[in-house]
Amino acid sequence: MVSKDDIQKLIEATDMAALVSPYVKLIKSGSGYKGLCPFHSEKTPSFSVSQDKHMAKCFGCGKGGNPIQFLMDIKHISFIEAVRELSKINNMELDIAPPNPLEEQYKKYYEINELALNLYTRNLWHTKNGEKALEYLYARGLSKELIEEFKIGLAPSESDTLYQVLKESNFLELDMVDVGLVRSSGDRYFDVFTNRIIFPITDERGKILGFSGRIFNDSDKQTAKYMNTSETPIFKKNNILYNLERAISGIVQNDRIVLHEGFMDVIATYRSGIKEAVCSMGTQLTQNQIKIIKKYTNNVILCYDGDKAGILATYRALDMFEKAGLKVKIVRLVDAKDSDEFVHKFGTDKYVEYFNSHQQEGIAYLYQSLTENLDINDTDKVEEVKKTLFSILKNKQSQSLLEKYIGSLADLLHVSTSSLYLDYDRITGFTNKNVPRKPRTDFDLKVKKIIISRIFELRIFEYAKISKRNALEIDRFLEENDAFYALDSKNQEIWILMINDFYKKNEDYNEQKFIELLEKHNLFDCYYNNALSLKNGSFNKYGDIDLQACLKMLKENAIAKRIGKIVENIKNSQEINSDLKKELLLKSVAERQKFEFVRNKNKKQKNN
Ligand code: UTP
Ligand code: MN
Repeated sequence: MVSKDDIQKLIEATDMAALVSPYVKLIKSGSGYKGLCPFHSEKTPSFSVSQDKHMAKCFGCGKGGNPIQFLMDIKHISFIEAVRELSKINNMELDIAPPNPLEEQYKKYYEINELALNLYTRNLWHTKNGEKALEYLYARGLSKELIEEFKIGLAPSESDTLYQVLKESNFLELDMVDVGLVRSSGDRYFDVFTNRIIFPITDERGKILGFSGRIFNDSDKQTAKYMNTSETPIFKKNNILYNLERAISGIVQNDRIVLHEGFMDVIATYRSGIKEAVCSMGTQLTQNQIKIIKKYTNNVILCYDGDKAGILATYRALDMFEKAGLKVKIVRLVDAKDSDEFVHKFGTDKYVEYFNSHQQEGIAYLYQSLTENLDINDTDKVEEVKKTLFSILKNKQSQSLLEKYIGSLADLLHVSTSSLYLDYDRITGFTNKNVPRKPRTDFDLKVKKIIISRIFELRIFEYAKISKRNALEIDRFLEENDAFYALDSKNQEIWILMINDFYKKNEDYNEQKFIELLEKHNLFDCYYNNALSLKNGSFNKYGDIDLQACLKMLKENAIAKRIGKIVENIKNSQEINSDLKKELLLKSVAERQKFEFVRNKNKKQKNN
């Protein structure tokens, strides 16, 4: 067991600044150092490092402390692991509790992998065949230093060189097979990797978990481009992020992580100077990987391939990250299919410049890429777009974003926002009774309210069709209550057409004639969509509410909408002068009072 004295010695032997500096840019301050806290985001430094007191602690969030605590917090490791690591750093032999038997077994696996990597790197640097592989790597733009830093190697081309080497070192065949480097066939053993460029895959502490091997001869083109270690006790693809080991300090320092699809893209980004790049290993992003990322940062930059598969993977990752509460930005590459190709074609400077200036907010990217080549007459495609957009938007829990994108989509598709709100309702499963209800959030209730008022908005057309008298009554009501402008702009047009055109010339409603009129004014699509929404949507549910209730709802909605507009104006105008601000605020207060008044009146009438 480690004694208290040993721990104390360990703490006192530690050079705090050296321990902390990979994670925090330190500035001299008094007798110690200061920097931006690596545990929370801040603009003025509250993270303080004291050499004398052997402390590294944030006075903002309280994380960190003595060197052991600092290591535990920054690396998310246990006390014992931190002590072990610190004793290694300080070259102190401590009597630390023996690891458990499983750990002993794992140690053997790691040793085998170390030995294998040793063979692979020697084979790359010191053989004739290695020269060819190096030529390939250099041609792809990797320097000698980079190849060394990433510990890239080459598996020998003979069928069992590694097996022989491991055997000589007295490792058990069982262990070699367990770790995925050797396979048995009959009574013989063969290497799993032969004649492939080898990328070691490590965990965040640099322990080798497994390998990936890439072909580099044209003659090998008929086999898989990359071959990975199969699942083993230590190589679990779902938990691995390639390059995390080298990326961690960049991730913590810059409070963001870059996620790619492939190794070579990670390396391209890394050699461009953006060190916080990782990738999952040719598999789809998993919840476990998100959990790992979340330990270090809440900001993700997704930079996947530009092909169809890459775009779909981006949508999926965006949805998963949003659900997990991370912030996502997307870098979309043009003129190159992936980062590696971009760097190869245009160089690292151009890449960094592009990378830094083309980070699109997740939903903005989503909307753009979903709609840019959309054929709005292809109903299946349109439905697909709505489905993807709405399911991801729902995670955002932001009403203003919802309004923004529903507005844009309505314009694009020439439909009313009302009908899109109903589609949103249907797609996100609000009124679907078969979906078990999650506890409602404020957001759900707000959206629900909007959706209900949208239904009323569409229903006034149904009431107006019943008789001219109805139509005129509604029109007068809209006028008197300033409710007309609360309607969706497309619905305003349809309404004007109905009152000022159709009912001017006709006493009775006639669907055929009205549709002809709509077609003449390019409004039929919107009208049709509204009608569809009502029939598919929740129309029946509210069938018992009469016209008067419907109008009251519209009135409430109109006021609420005006308040929303005013508040938005205040928010949007940063440079607004204080008089105007005051005026807007007063206006908002007045509208609020009106709203309360109308609502209370409605409530009272309902109760009577
Ligand atoms: P890509 O095919 O996009 O490879 O696969 P890449 O990164 O552009 O590779 P280069 O530039 O041709 O060398 C992306 C990732 O999918 C996995 C690998 O992890 C790769 O980095 N993959 C790909 C495999 O596991 N096996 C394969 O045969 C191909
Ligand atoms: Mn590539």
